[in-house]
Amino acid sequence: MLRYNKKRSYRYLIPILGLFLLFCCSENSDTTKSIIPINNGLETLKETATTFAVGMITRASYINGGGQHTQILKDEFSSVTSEYEMKMNVMYPSQGNYNFNAVDAIVNFAVTNNLYVHGHALIWHGATPDWVTDFSGTDAEFEAMVEDYITTTVKRYKGKVRSWDVVNEAIDDGSGNPLRNSVFRQKMGNDYIQKCFQWARNADPNAILFYNDYNMAASSSKRAAMFDIVDGLGNLIDGVGVQMHISYNAPLANDIQAVVDGTVTRGLKLHFSELDIRTNPEQDANVTSLSSTKAIQQQAKYKEVVQIYNSIPLDNKFALTVWGLRDNESWLLDFWGVPDWPLLFDEDYNKKRAYKGFLEGLK
Ligand code: XIL
Repeated sequence: MLRYNKKRSYRYLIPILGLFLLFCCSENSDTTKSIIPINNGLETLKETATTFAVGMITRASYINGGGQHTQILKDEFSSVTSEYEMKMNVMYPSQGNYNFNAVDAIVNFAVTNNLYVHGHALIWHGATPDWVTDFSGTDAEFEAMVEDYITTTVKRYKGKVRSWDVVNEAIDDGSGNPLRNSVFRQKMGNDYIQKCFQWARNADPNAILFYNDYNMAASSSKRAAMFDIVDGLGNLIDGVGVQMHISYNAPLANDIQAVVDGTVTRGLKLHFSELDIRTNPEQDANVTSLSSTKAIQQQAKYKEVVQIYNSIPLDNKFALTVWGLRDNESWLLDFWGVPDWPLLFDEDYNKKRAYKGFLEGLK
């Protein structure tokens, strides 16, 4: 009787299972169609990208937590960038007191696991501690403090951090794209960028030094302003960091190519340093999942970006870094305040079509 009942319940299960599969796996299902099965173990991003590093951001809490985050870092990526802990407000929270605990955790993990570390970012107006913004002291004292900060930080990680964004986002978005009027510019003058690069160079002559900024494909005037800065730095600078916070439908390939060409012409290294691809630039607050159309468009854009990067000459290649592992961890959710799915992995660490697009761009 018991056996019979069991059999019977199995029989009932078959059509139910069939319906379930039909519902979940059909082309029309919204929840699974953005996820694609990938032959794991054979292809990884870092193994497929044979001529440049594939980077991912991380946090000390993720490193200390271990689990899937660190496993994927090790499996798929060859370089790490700290999402926010290698910025001045974390590393130098009060005058005379450095705090490198989080950075040490990230750098030690990277060294142990044979990953490059890209240092991001020594000087950024968006992560300046209050005591620096409200600095009490002369301009000369301010400048000496910044020199000490850059020297202390870069020397500490000499030989472990392969590259630094020395200055991040120095250019204003306003008309004419002047230098942003940060406290660094106010107290150290228009040549503050040059001074910072010189101190970083002195502290670790082998570190690869970058200027990093956003909207360089989208805005031709900002791009021109950036290349002016870069030209003024001469051989103090080794490369250009192009953030690449973009959308599935913009900027267009030829605008991305213009940044690439300007960098290659100058013989500099190119870092696509903060890649994420918004699927909801329309800012629809009510969208609840990634549609199959958007997932496919996003896949195509990842492929396009990676293809453009992969086509540059070997000498100009450096790394392509993605700004976040899982969709639900993306900074864009807070920044824009609307739902989005901008990254390569979904919140359950499944590889998305976007991941496949990345791989396709490498072939
Ligand atoms: C963002 C981080 O993702 C956030 O966690 C942090 O709170 C603020 O900074 N441009 C940059 C990055 O250069 O450093 C920013 O990262 C995103 C925009």
